[in-house]
Amino acid sequence: MIRRAAVVKMVVVAAIAALIATLVAVLIDWLPDSASEEMDRITFVYWFATIICIGIFALVVAVIVEAVWAFRVQPDDDTDGPPIHGHTGLEVAWTVVPAILVIAIGVVSAVVLSKNADAGSNPLTIKVFAQQFAWRFDYAGGVQSDELVMPVHRSVRFEMDSPDVIHSLWIPEMGQKQDVVPGTVQKIVITPTRTGRFRLICTELCGLGHSTMRAPVRVLEQPAFDKWLEKQSSARGGSAGGGSAGGGGAQVGKKTFASAGCGGCHAFEPAGTDAEIGPSLDNLAADAEKAGKPLPDYIRESIVNPNAYVVPSYKSGVMPTTFGETLKPEELDGLVVFLSGKGAE
Ligand code: CUA
Repeated sequence: MIRRAAVVKMVVVAAIAALIATLVAVLIDWLPDSASEEMDRITFVYWFATIICIGIFALVVAVIVEAVWAFRVQPDDDTDGPPIHGHTGLEVAWTVVPAILVIAIGVVSAVVLSKNADAGSNPLTIKVFAQQFAWRFDYAGGVQSDELVMPVHRSVRFEMDSPDVIHSLWIPEMGQKQDVVPGTVQKIVITPTRTGRFRLICTELCGLGHSTMRAPVRVLEQPAFDKWLEKQSSARGGSAGGGSAGGGGAQVGKKTFASAGCGGCHAFEPAGTDAEIGPSLDNLAADAEKAGKPLPDYIRESIVNPNAYVVPSYKSGVMPTTFGETLKPEELDGLVVFLSGKGAE
């Protein structure tokens, strides 16, 4: 029989354990400050499960401490323990209670998952294009951006695709995370609740440039967002007109350099990038000479068929071979102009 004193002792130990666990849960900022409705729900599930865990933890610690203390064996005691049959009531309790708790967590999670997948009746759809090692966001009306801009308090439905390997979209403050799988369209919903700047991170190891595969995120009030979208589409109309003429090519190239993520792997002074995964693009003229090709041909070949000639001390097969398909002809032309402008000096 458990004595009253033992029960009091266990309650005290449980209270101390619960207090310590609660302090660890509360005092450390485990989660970023929520910036979306989805993150609010995820945070709720987190605390729901955490509170249950703290209760179980306190109970287990109390039982362990009491058992070790009250039933410890003396050094000279070699006798067998008493033959006990068990305790039916206790066994039912430790089966039924955890079952109820796990089911409760499962139900709460399922409700949150289904609510978080619901974009409502009037979502804004943004197509996401994830490619080694850059993100591109396509808005209605043909607007393309390498920055993710969203209006606040409106559900945004992302439709995501990748031409090469699996990437994963994650904005920590927005909670939602979803793999982008080549050949399928993955969907995810985010409803921002506050304006500000955030960062989108690729969370699937996708190659050498994985750690650089990030994109800026901006959440704006609806009118500011409309203005931004307007500006983007008029800028697009302007560049489409002058895209092929003279300096326009280099402009298109500069934009493409950013949107295709070239700077994730390559240093190129005119673009202000300094990554070292692939060879520096500031030495293109010398590399073209070593490859025995005219500069523009060498640049074009290196983008479309990067393994044809690999700069010494760099490995073959690292650079994606999909740019020939994913870049538009004018983007490819623009890149050649932009890159040879510096290298030809
Ligand atoms: Cu894309 Cu990691």
